[in-house]
Amino acid sequence: MLICPSMMCANFDSLQKEVRELDIAGADIFHIDIMDGHFVPNFGMGLQDIEAIKKATKKQVDVHLMISNPGDYIELFAGFGVDIIYIHPESDNHPTRTLDKIKEKGKKAGIAINPGTSIHQIEELLLLVDYVLVMTVNPGFSGQKYLNYVDEKIIKLVNLKNENSFEIIVDGAVSPAVMKKLSGIGVDGFVLGTSALFGKKQKYTELMKNFKS
Ligand code: DX5
Ligand code: ZN
Repeated sequence: MLICPSMMCANFDSLQKEVRELDIAGADIFHIDIMDGHFVPNFGMGLQDIEAIKKATKKQVDVHLMISNPGDYIELFAGFGVDIIYIHPESDNHPTRTLDKIKEKGKKAGIAINPGTSIHQIEELLLLVDYVLVMTVNPGFSGQKYLNYVDEKIIKLVNLKNENSFEIIVDGAVSPAVMKKLSGIGVDGFVLGTSALFGKKQKYTELMKNFKS
């Protein structure tokens, strides 16, 4: 079960300390939300945050590009040494070309799909990606409510896994109860933000131990 801390929810007073503690606690992939104020009505983390996080850990780092025309920026983000690049096919006229670009750069490729995006709209992309990031909130903000109607789509995706080789990561308002529910049906990992990981009384090590058990 991959644990991907959503770093936009971290305590920015001491980002490096947060990364180190999460790393030791057992985080698998550091999740960095990039936003352009156009594809989503918000701004996420910056390029300097990618550098700072990369400097503080040897674990994998991903970028969740909630931006329009992500194909124009693959060179830029790959240059920061991230391991996984997620694009939203909803914001790209040629997602297959962009996914090729990501792989040409030696990075793992992922598609992030909005709550309203159906499997049929992205089925042909499934054989091209290593990860599918299923949004269970409308992207762009932390601290929202989990959208239960997405569960049905997650089950459909799980059923498509055997013909392809992608892993399913769920992103958005993932609580311990949601993790319990979904890890039993074949989901491979979770982006964890304020619903399960950040702003809690318990230490990261304690929280992660509970999640992993
Ligand atoms: C949503 C973001 C995530 C996540 C945050 O666009 O990708 O940061 O929702 O976690 P929660 O929803 O638990 O605060
Ligand atoms: Zn995200």
